[in-house]
Amino acid sequence: MKTRIGVLTSGGDCPGLNAVLRGVVLAGEKLGWEVIGFRDGFEGLLPPGDYVVLDRKSTEGIMALGGTIIGTTNRGHFIAKVGAGDRAVVASEVIARAKKVLDELHVKALVIVGGDGSMTTAMQMQEAGINCIGVPKTIDNDIEATAMTFGFDSAVAEVMDALDRLHTTATSHKRVMVVEVMGRHAGWIALHGGIAGGADIILIPEIPFDYDKIAAAIKQREAAGRLGSLVVVAEGARPKDGQQIKRDIEGGEFRLGGIGEVVAREIAERTGKETRSCVLGHLQRGGAPTTLDRILATRFGVKAVQLANEGHFGSMVSYQNYQVRHVPIADAVNRLRLVPPHGEMVQTARDVDISFGD
Ligand code: F6P
Repeated sequence: MKTRIGVLTSGGDCPGLNAVLRGVVLAGEKLGWEVIGFRDGFEGLLPPGDYVVLDRKSTEGIMALGGTIIGTTNRGHFIAKVGAGDRAVVASEVIARAKKVLDELHVKALVIVGGDGSMTTAMQMQEAGINCIGVPKTIDNDIEATAMTFGFDSAVAEVMDALDRLHTTATSHKRVMVVEVMGRHAGWIALHGGIAGGADIILIPEIPFDYDKIAAAIKQREAAGRLGSLVVVAEGARPKDGQQIKRDIEGGEFRLGGIGEVVAREIAERTGKETRSCVLGHLQRGGAPTTLDRILATRFGVKAVQLANEGHFGSMVSYQNYQVRHVPIADAVNRLRLVPPHGEMVQTARDVDISFGD
């Protein structure tokens, strides 16, 4: 019987997941392994095991597809989300049931493709005796111990495209257009998308803003003859004296969103300018991965297989200094990689006249 390696995709989907699966399958086959994909994230590990054999044929042509062919979920029995100071723990009985399924299926190692919450679960599984390799993914780019995650570049490209489109309508109507983007507690998508798309104001969680400062920046642009303005606001951004806007609570986890509409209203009141807002939402998570994401995801998938082959269990694939390496999964959890408010990217933005409303 061939050695079996399992793979699952967990948490919110993002472009590049299928490229990882393809990388795992093609590199795994070279080692004579059989790869099985568990469906719908960790849920597929619950008895009797919901899985599909992945091979060269079933992964043909999937690299350009967004989403994940084996499904995912950010709900269910294995949720261990971190980020806002909380640390949830998966019930040990649930992990024990998953281990039994993996043992019965003769799965020697499990590649877990996910975000910070999934890496926390992976660490717990490793501690329970399951051989785990982590592969970091998220459009938010907020995972510690890796300089980049795949999915991020595709999300940024979507923001850039939206801003390119909004420039003309903002200028034609002399309006302020406010675009709310994803990212949870991190401002990476807003910052990179805003710079690439030529935003005038970028509001991120790491730099609390002041409505009067935003209004002043818009009035200053108007005085200089620039009649339309583009504002990119991260869903986790908040005013200096205010809170993040949390939409609803499901299973203990809140969702961010709604700040764009509030910012648009406050700008209209303070400047008297016509203002519109739009929320990019899940458009940022769909569609084909960019070149960069396809390559990074392929490298991550191949590296995960190499790590399994070398017995580096409990490790997470990591991108550092243009190289794909590995770090202990523990280095990546319980904290988020946020935008340094005084870092080079923020300074670059300021140097090209972008205001952070601070
Ligand atoms: O973590 C990725 C992400 O897209 C965040 O940017 C966003 O806050 C969240 O997931 C949305 O989650 P859901 O798909 O459950 O609405």
